[in-house]
Amino acid sequence: MVNIQQLKQWKQEGRRIVVLTAWDFAIAQLLDRANVDMILVGDSLGMVTLGYETTLPLTLEEMLHHTKAVCRGVKQALVICDLPFMSYQESSQQAIHSAGRVLKETGAQGVKLEGGYPAMVETVAQLTAIGIPVMGHVGLTPQSVHRLGYRQQGKTPEDARRILQEAIALEEAGAFAIVLEHIPDNLAKQITQKLAIPTIGIGAGSSCDGQVLVTGDMLGLTERQPPFAKSYVNLRDIITDAVRNFSAEVREGKFLDP
Ligand code: KIV
Repeated sequence: MVNIQQLKQWKQEGRRIVVLTAWDFAIAQLLDRANVDMILVGDSLGMVTLGYETTLPLTLEEMLHHTKAVCRGVKQALVICDLPFMSYQESSQQAIHSAGRVLKETGAQGVKLEGGYPAMVETVAQLTAIGIPVMGHVGLTPQSVHRLGYRQQGKTPEDARRILQEAIALEEAGAFAIVLEHIPDNLAKQITQKLAIPTIGIGAGSSCDGQVLVTGDMLGLTERQPPFAKSYVNLRDIITDAVRNFSAEVREGKFLDP
């Protein structure tokens, strides 16, 4: 079973970390059997699986429900659960309560939360102090879509400096890894070189210590994809063809032909 302590070691050894998102038992089982290192129950499931316009409406109860299903399908990978919007931003106490529920009720080994310095640093420090592993997430943070949009972050020198400072502050607060989303490659490289903990990139170039994709994008299930997504198969077409074939057989009276 992959554990949190191994990740830092892997960074030192130059072993890249493979991360994918999952939202249910079947997908989690497939990813785990294919030897993914870390499975993130990302709040992108609100859009990919539940059809919300953004990640904002997703509730903690919904995350708990999906994370439990994912954990039932996983034997080897590390499972990390996103804390959804407004389940941790109010106060460190609220974050402890929500993250505590995740660890107690689901079987996930840690949580991820968005944001950096100064907003989240104290919260990350308090969570790690009581033994709850936290993965940070800086750059494009989709829970701030109404302030940031889905644009690349860190393009100006001031913004790049701010993101670097956030990453350093999160590491100092005890984060075990940090997702870098949609920032310039050279900034991601600089952060990756500066930190002892692994960086996990999504739309952040190839220098990160690991890479994550939203599995719905990777499998070609999602209609709208960010520019940095990559599909390895087009499941939308494959599923549509299968459904059409089944429908044709039923309508033509050929299904279960003796
Ligand atoms: O919710 C999610 O899927 C994520 C990834 C994009 C890292 O946070």
